[in-house]
Amino acid sequence: MIALDLIGIGTGNPEHVTLAAIRAMREADLILLPRKGDEKSDLADLRRQICTDHLPDLSRVVEFDLPRRDGETPYLDAVNDWHDAIAGAWKAAIDTHLPGGGRVALLVWGDPSLYDSTLRVAARLGLKPRVVPGVTSLSVLTAAHAIPLNDLAAPVVITTGRRLRQGWPEGADTVAVMLDQGGAFTALDPTGVTIHWGAYLGMEQEALIAGPLAEAGPRILETRAALRARHGWIMDIYLLHR
Ligand SMILES: C[S@@+](CC[C@H](N)C(=O)[O-])C[C@H]1O[C@@H](n2cnc3c(N)ncnc32)[C@H](O)[C@@H]1O
Repeated sequence: MIALDLIGIGTGNPEHVTLAAIRAMREADLILLPRKGDEKSDLADLRRQICTDHLPDLSRVVEFDLPRRDGETPYLDAVNDWHDAIAGAWKAAIDTHLPGGGRVALLVWGDPSLYDSTLRVAARLGLKPRVVPGVTSLSVLTAAHAIPLNDLAAPVVITTGRRLRQGWPEGADTVAVMLDQGGAFTALDPTGVTIHWGAYLGMEQEALIAGPLAEAGPRILETRAALRARHGWIMDIYLLHR
């Protein structure tokens, strides 16, 4: 019998790992850490560091190779195939390291409910996990700029850079954008739009820019390119308001 814990660990600030997350990590018989061929090593190092900081020893921590996503097939097909492959990799690691059953944990970046597929992968294995919530990149963004997420009693749309390129989403004057490969906001008319942007939130490389989109947008593109070149990777998120 396998019990699965999906543990949100925040998005880079070790102080955002909650007491509940630490307790769940300590209760696990096996903690699986994904190893990506091209992984931003800073992120892999952070997961390892969290284990080192909070576990009595690392004997129950096992790394496994995360399958790569096929860039050729259409996006949703590729993602579905990829999730099948990840489910297979989890199963193989669990069968090898926990053959008699027990409690398995995965450390999930931010919170498992927000633009993360770990819950969908667990469903493929027929596992109903216990979820430990984590601090999301969106919370860290609004905290860093000291702004509310929503206008008074108003809705917010959370979307991806890929979707934003199709235009301002219906239903809200505030839009949070994640998973942007870079500059999706350039597809919008910047008139009357403000942006609050953050990269490497919660980490020592953290960078913040805010202002009217017409003026701040080009600065963000320039800064983003420079930071990406300097660190070899970047993760950023922003809030647009009109
Ligand atoms: C696959 S999603 C995971 C989101 C995560 N589950 C969460 O709760 O924030 C990755 C996206 O989250 C955002 N993100 C995650 N960590 C971040 C960080 N430290 N700084 C800025 N953006 C971050 C970026 O938009 C990135 O493209």
